[in-house]
Amino acid sequence: MYFHHMVQGLSQQWEAYVPDHHDTWRRLYERQRANLEGKASPLYLASLDRMSETLTCKFVPRIPAMEAQLLETTGWSLTVVPGLIPVDDFFQLLASKRFCTSTWVRRPDQLDYIEEPDMFHDTFGHIPPLMDPDFAAFMHRFGEVGAALVAAGEDEAVLGLQRLYWYFVEFGFVRGEEGTPQLMGAGIMSSFGETNHAWGLRDTLIPFSIEEVMNTPFRTDVIQTKYFIVEDVVQLRHDLDRWFAGFELGGHA
Ligand SMILES: [Fe+2]
Repeated sequence: MYFHHMVQGLSQQWEAYVPDHHDTWRRLYERQRANLEGKASPLYLASLDRMSETLTCKFVPRIPAMEAQLLETTGWSLTVVPGLIPVDDFFQLLASKRFCTSTWVRRPDQLDYIEEPDMFHDTFGHIPPLMDPDFAAFMHRFGEVGAALVAAGEDEAVLGLQRLYWYFVEFGFVRGEEGTPQLMGAGIMSSFGETNHAWGLRDTLIPFSIEEVMNTPFRTDVIQTKYFIVEDVVQLRHDLDRWFAGFELGGHA
């Protein structure tokens, strides 16, 4: 899972980007927007297109502009981070309806692969789904549940949540209205190669169940071999609540 180091008060130094950054951004965006047509969830694509003035293809987007639109739509804001952060900080951010993003843009020779998530992954991949009220509600609840389980020292459950995040938020498919599988996860959306690889495996998807994904380890350093499909994001949030209710933490979260 991709976490980042949190530094208070960090902001995007937009004027520091050079033409290469903007050019790389535009190439990434244009290639991937075309590649996602007919494969990605219309919910994702509609949000991406609705953000075309803020999460723009023309240049590296300005974080305050994306944040303003996100705030207005689902009440989420953005926190700038320079690198990986501990899992409990990540849960705390989600629990307060904040998503984190880096501001660095990959080099021109890294269009196809980067080891750590850059701003293209963090924003192009993660922000459009947060424009959807049901997905945003899932992420908020996920953060609350995670923060409560970290506080309770439930390490195994926290690991399970990281796997749930991986197999849904990063690499999940969702079911479309006509029953067809559609791409949704940010790790897929932000990668040309992962998109085509995952799409090629759409007939081998595993039905998403919290219990099963929580028992499925993942690797961050290889292309994925197992993809799960979520039938209904609202139902997934209810399933998460049901699972969390089994912990009897003695308080309320
Ligand atoms: Fe990510």
